[in-house]
Amino acid sequence: MLDLIVRNATLPDGRRGIDVGVQAGRIAALEPNLQATAGQSIDANGRLLTPPFVDSHFHMDATLSVGLPRRNRSGTLLEGIALWGELKPSLTGQAIVDRALAYCDWAVARGLLAIRSHVDICDPRLLAVDALLEVRKKVAPYIDLQLVAFPQDGLYRSPGALELLKEALRRGVDVVGGIPHFERTMEDGRASVRALCEIAAEQGLLVDMHCDETDDPMSRHVETLAAETVRLGLHGRVVGSHLTSMHSMDNYYVSKLVPLMAEADLGVIANPFANMVLQGRHDTYPKRRGMTRVPELMAAGLTVALGQDSTMDPWYGLGSGDMLDVAHMAVHVAQMTSLDAMSACFAAVTGSAARLLHLDGYGLDVGCKADMVLLDASDPVEAIRLRATRLKVIRAGKVIAEAPSARTSLALPGRPGEISFSWPRDVS
Ligand code: FE2
Repeated sequence: MLDLIVRNATLPDGRRGIDVGVQAGRIAALEPNLQATAGQSIDANGRLLTPPFVDSHFHMDATLSVGLPRRNRSGTLLEGIALWGELKPSLTGQAIVDRALAYCDWAVARGLLAIRSHVDICDPRLLAVDALLEVRKKVAPYIDLQLVAFPQDGLYRSPGALELLKEALRRGVDVVGGIPHFERTMEDGRASVRALCEIAAEQGLLVDMHCDETDDPMSRHVETLAAETVRLGLHGRVVGSHLTSMHSMDNYYVSKLVPLMAEADLGVIANPFANMVLQGRHDTYPKRRGMTRVPELMAAGLTVALGQDSTMDPWYGLGSGDMLDVAHMAVHVAQMTSLDAMSACFAAVTGSAARLLHLDGYGLDVGCKADMVLLDASDPVEAIRLRATRLKVIRAGKVIAEAPSARTSLALPGRPGEISFSWPRDVS
């Protein structure tokens, strides 16, 4: 007897009428008309069953701090960094833990069960590092939290940052981060990419660098990141986050850069919410949209994920932990409106993101971890369109969050009787 069976599910790849059997926290069977019994049974009624959402780029140390000590008036990346600097001296470890745990509750409710969070290491106390290491441990039963050592104020620009970054890694932070475009000069930025990739190579760690998060078409740190990846044999282990300069780069140069990125098997993470509000702030009109070239990079065979970056913090005052919101924004910003392109945006907040994070046992296959989300939608496109309700969120074969199907009642002049319908309207 199995622990759980989810019956009559539609999978993201389009397979319908699938039963998923779970035993001891793992998927034990996945087939139509599964002949087995289970302690618990869930009728998916043809709805979409997906592996959990994955946020490949987040800042959990800053989340839910919006308005502290004041709001970002200019809306720029640089004022956000300055604001975070103003807040840092008064931060406490407990406040970071409390806000992060509150956010993780939201995440679970949204079916978001894996998060890669950057953590600022430019604080001699390493307050945020210790706080998020504690959070990682606390949420481990329900969220896979991966931490990136992030020198927010610059590896060379911030005194002692290199040593602090190494200490953060010693304390258990998982991934090497960076911010080359924020170093004082292009040369310092290049040197920081080189040094950080060398640390990762020596210690066998992954790299995820904020890279060229600028509208400067001449910024060249993506090129350096790809070249260092090749030089050190880190293929498939390095991610460039943001890459917004690529939006503004000369097309001829990009035609050289993209194959170099493909040679390095460089992962790409775009953050449509943050990119839309932070980039193009120095433009009048036309006003550039600062997201990297998502469909073109996908077409070149690169793995592209979409991250949330911020939720209610100095850089972005909105957000709710909903990765379908992120995919929805990407569809519009990147004009990815074909059915295949929208499905690719869904993958960018699920399977593609999991690949970049090197998540173990992720997916809907026999042997994978039994982490799943049942959505009130019939396919990935409808899920994005409706930002569909997460009917059941399942972790290791157990339901850890559930919500009723959304239903609306109308009382309309000239229309007798009550009119009501549920979203989506025609699930068969
Ligand atoms: Fe970021």
